[in-house]
Amino acid sequence: MNKKIIVLIVGVIIVTVGVVFWNISSNNKSKTADNLDNNIVENENSNETHDENTNDNDKGTLNDKKVAIIYFSATGTTKKIAEYIKNTTNGDLIEIIPKEKYTDKDLNYGNDDSRANKEQNDSKARPEIKNNITTDDYEVIYLGYPIWWGDVPKIILTFLDSHNLDGKIIIPFCTSGSTGISGSLNTLKNYNKDINWIDGERFSATTNQNEISNWVNGLNY
Ligand SMILES: Cc1cc2nc3c(=O)[nH]c(=O)nc-3n(C[C@H](O)[C@H](O)[C@H](O)COP(=O)(O)O)c2cc1C
Repeated sequence: MNKKIIVLIVGVIIVTVGVVFWNISSNNKSKTADNLDNNIVENENSNETHDENTNDNDKGTLNDKKVAIIYFSATGTTKKIAEYIKNTTNGDLIEIIPKEKYTDKDLNYGNDDSRANKEQNDSKARPEIKNNITTDDYEVIYLGYPIWWGDVPKIILTFLDSHNLDGKIIIPFCTSGSTGISGSLNTLKNYNKDINWIDGERFSATTNQNEISNWVNGLNY
């Protein structure tokens, strides 16, 4: 075979092998690039999922404010409601205990001279609280009381006087024979305008756990 032809054949073989190798390697490169792209997309997607979860958690955090249920109850009705709220919110249950316990005689609203009636008629009355109550830790406070003559018992004002509650969310709740919460809400809102008052609710002695859970879960704070 002529020397020139051999050189030509070898040259063609080298070029062909080179082209094949280049093709294979560029194919692999583009596959790697595709994989990278896919990974990036997957990561972006997983970031999106993560972001969504983060948002959910943020929502959770919003609803995860530290809660206290602080209440005064002379005969146990408001206390029961406070316990139902505690069961739903998992907040801390704190009783406002009067320094001088209210006796049945004190609570006789048929007698103008009874202690409760005299306090309700005296705008300056601030019955003393026996226990130390700390409110600093809480962002949300459910504040419970019985309705006395359409209003908050004066000991609730003693409580407001003795704590800095500015900026906190306070949700009043009350129990009564029949009177609604609105009169007491007016008193509270006017007493401290720097509190973030949320319109609360009046309950009766027969209100059950289920009704309280529904009410609490429907609140937006
Ligand atoms: C001094 C006094 C005044 C009251 N005034 C009212 C009233 O104006 N309207 C009403 O519906 N119930 C009134 N009640 C009834 C209480 O609001 C009701 O029994 C309440 O659920 C008691 O809550 P407690 O057991 O947590 O103290 C009054 C009770 C007392 C002792």
